[in-house]
Amino acid sequence: MAAIKETVSQLIEKFQGPAEDVPREPSAEELQTLRKQYTDAGQGHVFAFFDELSPVEKTRLFHQLANFNPTRINELATTALNPPPTTAEEKAASLEPLPDVATASILDSDPADLQKWYDEGLKQVSQNTVAVVLMAGGQGTRLGSSAPKGCFDIGLLSQKSLFQLQAERIAKLQSLAQKTHGVAQSTIPWYIMTSGPTRKPTEEFFAKNNFFGLEKNNVFVFEQGVLPCISNEGKIMMESKTKVAVAPDGNGGIYEALLTSGVREDMRRRGIQHIHVYGVDNCLVKVADPVFIGFAASKDVDIATKVVRKRNATESVGLILQKNGKPDVVEYSEIDKETAEAKDPKHPELLKYRAANIVNHCYSFRFLESVENWAHKLPHHVARKKIACLDTETGDAVKPEKPNGVKLEQFVFDVFPLTPLEKFACIEVLREDEFSPLKNARGTGQDDPDTSRADIMKQGQRWVEKAGGVVVTEADAFGVEVSPLISYGGENLEFLHGREIKAPAVLEKEEE
Ligand code: UD1
Repeated sequence: MAAIKETVSQLIEKFQGPAEDVPREPSAEELQTLRKQYTDAGQGHVFAFFDELSPVEKTRLFHQLANFNPTRINELATTALNPPPTTAEEKAASLEPLPDVATASILDSDPADLQKWYDEGLKQVSQNTVAVVLMAGGQGTRLGSSAPKGCFDIGLLSQKSLFQLQAERIAKLQSLAQKTHGVAQSTIPWYIMTSGPTRKPTEEFFAKNNFFGLEKNNVFVFEQGVLPCISNEGKIMMESKTKVAVAPDGNGGIYEALLTSGVREDMRRRGIQHIHVYGVDNCLVKVADPVFIGFAASKDVDIATKVVRKRNATESVGLILQKNGKPDVVEYSEIDKETAEAKDPKHPELLKYRAANIVNHCYSFRFLESVENWAHKLPHHVARKKIACLDTETGDAVKPEKPNGVKLEQFVFDVFPLTPLEKFACIEVLREDEFSPLKNARGTGQDDPDTSRADIMKQGQRWVEKAGGVVVTEADAFGVEVSPLISYGGENLEFLHGREIKAPAVLEKEEE
């Protein structure tokens, strides 16, 4: 028996790489128990081709299936496919914009308050109490690139990827905090949440680029969970004879993942108190923004969030508001026309609900201590999709032309209603300075690589001009790309006073 096992593992190594990639072979008893669990739950078809698989394939499929509880999947599937009818209470749910006490705006805040928040935030950075968590587990289907979005080159002159821009902002902020507070070392640990499809390429990209100059020990890649895709009939879908079709469990999977990956423990060990969580696709994101950290810290809230003014009624953004007196988000995929188009009675030229979610949230560590009390209770939202799969009756591959199943996703903001209004705060920021998401393929004209690049170039040009530089624009040429290593948010550009720069230009070093 031992000899056979040895031969099998040698074969595995030959065909599939090192043996440690292959999980432990299950015992006959374990296999039988798992099969029974799935059969009893009416999901026995996942074993339809099991007996004809190779030993390695059997082992892998066993472990994939053992990760899920089919009874729990059935519960999720039943609710997803047959949503309970809207209750009278839900119908009467009162939506209102957030009250003034829970909001502030960069646009009309007292400059003294902004400075106070900035100073407080930078002090926190200098004391090593600030961490950032990047949510980069999405599959970027709309962008049409198979690589992780963070690796995407939006066409800047420097050819920097989104990951690099973010890394350089972290590096710059660390050095600003060090200089301002005269400390030897300020560290902002960067936790990067990936998913099955994005983990490996993300890790490889960081390694290849030498962590963009950041200390390797302060960059931590972790993985969110996945859930099986469910057919319109409530069956777990198979991608092939050897694999369940799965999809990341949504950006709300972050909470469970913070626990299972050990990220929260690492934060505790480091004495982290403020956590900035953000999405990968926004090239203007102010990673660990001191104003935001200082705002949340001064108000002593559990959750703070940033919004911009919604562009128009149809923009694909969630709306931050209050529902039945609690902070909440109505997602763009779930909003009704009437709510989307409602006008503000006090300012009829404006939308009533215009606080657009830009996926920039700040949590207190104190609040993240309670994750195990509520993470499993967050709802699952349904995305109907065309899912390539296997017909488990015939063994044929299916390429559907219309949605044939659903993906189940938790949303990161579904925790908001669990937070009392007095522990929640929202700050409005300028879109041109903080929000330009990369969602669509080049040529779409909105939220695509060209708009991302243009928004960075225009921001740089504004900064240069504000510092007294002159940007010469000829014909269609415009913009200056200012390296985040020179300036985090427009500061430190006095050396450009009186200088003439021909657009498009890139400033990589101060003396250029
Ligand atoms: C998201 C927001 C929406 C907001 C908009 C602004 C959510 C649920 N929705 O919508 O309210 O107005 O951005 O651009 O936050 N991600 C994961 N794992 C997943 C799925 C997504 O890490 O399983 C990450 C993505 O990599 C991305 C972020 O979450 O960084 C947002 O995901 P995306 O699918 O782009 O959200 P939108 O539908 O655009």
